[in-house]
Amino acid sequence: MKLPYAEPFRIKMVEEIRRSTRQEREEWIRNADYNLFNLKSSQVFIDLLTDSGTGAMSDKQWAAVMTGDESYAGSASFEKLKQSVEQITGYKYLLPTHQGRAAENVLFTVLVKDGDIVPGNSHFDTTKGHIEMRKAHAVDCTVDEAFDIEDPFQFKGNIDLDKLEEVYKSHPKEKIPFCLITVTCNTSGGQPVSLENIKAVRELSDRYGIPVYFDGARFAENAYFIQQRENGQREKSIKEICREMFGYGNGMTMSSKKDGLVNIGGFVATNDEEVFRKASNVTIIFEGFITYGGMAGRDMAALAQGLDESTEESYLEYRISQIEYLGNKMIEYGIPIQKPIGGHAVFIDALSFLPNVKREEFPAQTLAIELYKEAGIRGVEIGTLLADRDPETREERYPKLELVRLAIPRRTYTNNHMEYIAAAVKNVFDRRNEITKGYEIVWEADLMRHFTVKLKEARS
Ligand code: F0G
Repeated sequence: MKLPYAEPFRIKMVEEIRRSTRQEREEWIRNADYNLFNLKSSQVFIDLLTDSGTGAMSDKQWAAVMTGDESYAGSASFEKLKQSVEQITGYKYLLPTHQGRAAENVLFTVLVKDGDIVPGNSHFDTTKGHIEMRKAHAVDCTVDEAFDIEDPFQFKGNIDLDKLEEVYKSHPKEKIPFCLITVTCNTSGGQPVSLENIKAVRELSDRYGIPVYFDGARFAENAYFIQQRENGQREKSIKEICREMFGYGNGMTMSSKKDGLVNIGGFVATNDEEVFRKASNVTIIFEGFITYGGMAGRDMAALAQGLDESTEESYLEYRISQIEYLGNKMIEYGIPIQKPIGGHAVFIDALSFLPNVKREEFPAQTLAIELYKEAGIRGVEIGTLLADRDPETREERYPKLELVRLAIPRRTYTNNHMEYIAAAVKNVFDRRNEITKGYEIVWEADLMRHFTVKLKEARS
């Protein structure tokens, strides 16, 4: 008999989580203005809001915390981190920041100007926010397959080269500071980008003289998919694939809260000395001195170790298999999810799950609320609320998909939790025809409204 995968770790410490009653949850979510970000963590049983900063550190990472060097300048923990980043990415200049969006702020302050165009594969919302607040435009060049949840294409994070070339042809080179490849592509469902595509983007960009940067938040998961799915990659180690992948770029921003396996942190890494020099000044103003940026020495030490662990085959096999386990259960129950199953989360297609809820009443948010009421599970809307209004016309910009993301924290929940989640989703699915009303906005912010939006039940 083929042995199934099992977690390549055992558990040394546990944290209590509590179940609640449906009545309690109905009151809590009403008091939270139907915004799941407003719930207290004690009101949540299984928290799938994000896989960001919510993972469990290893014994070796906790041991590294005790070795943290808190020197303002020239910290030994910085040296360790720099070595670890260079080994994995090949980038020799490093600027630590307090998290991923801070890395975006540092890099984009140097590179992005008013009126610029930044093409890429479905930019993450803070990334798009950092581009748009500089009055520049993020152009989505993701392959069309990504928007058909049933399409089994293995690399739905890929950039469509025709779309990208169209952008390069229709704007002067000076207006395009770089092309941004997000690995894996969070917005399209934790979907990977193939090595072949990355290489082709590099070649095309070279022809037009445009640099290529990575948003590396989930780079290790992307490398695992390349190893497992791409022709001719099986024999390479994850670390070899990472080196090759990053070798096609000029640099990266990183949210260490994902594949860094730590609870806070980020960085900019590059081989471009001039960018590094300019970005150093921005780091000093916004983050801190260049050998710690926004991080404590102990956190840099834990991150150096975390990067090594997240690029281990055994860890990645466990990680991706757990998401598959949850996704396959849902497929078995007939629930419409993005296929193939992605890297860090299962994405439920709310438009086909809740066909009776109008688009203007936010079907994905409605489904996320139902799931919370059903079982105390907190997911997140990746739909119209997150897409924000058009910054110029203020019209709603309905995205192609309305998704609920159930993001799985790293090394945190067991497969019994996965069973519970799948059963809860099935219960909501079984009564989907009774769900006909969604929500209306009572108050919203101008930018990134989904974090703070206030909603009420729709009247219709
Ligand atoms: N890039 C990607 C692809 C991300 O998914 C995130 C964060 C960031 C950048 C920003 O990093 O949070 O450290 O400032 N994603 C989280 C999520 C918040 O839930 O997907 P950060």
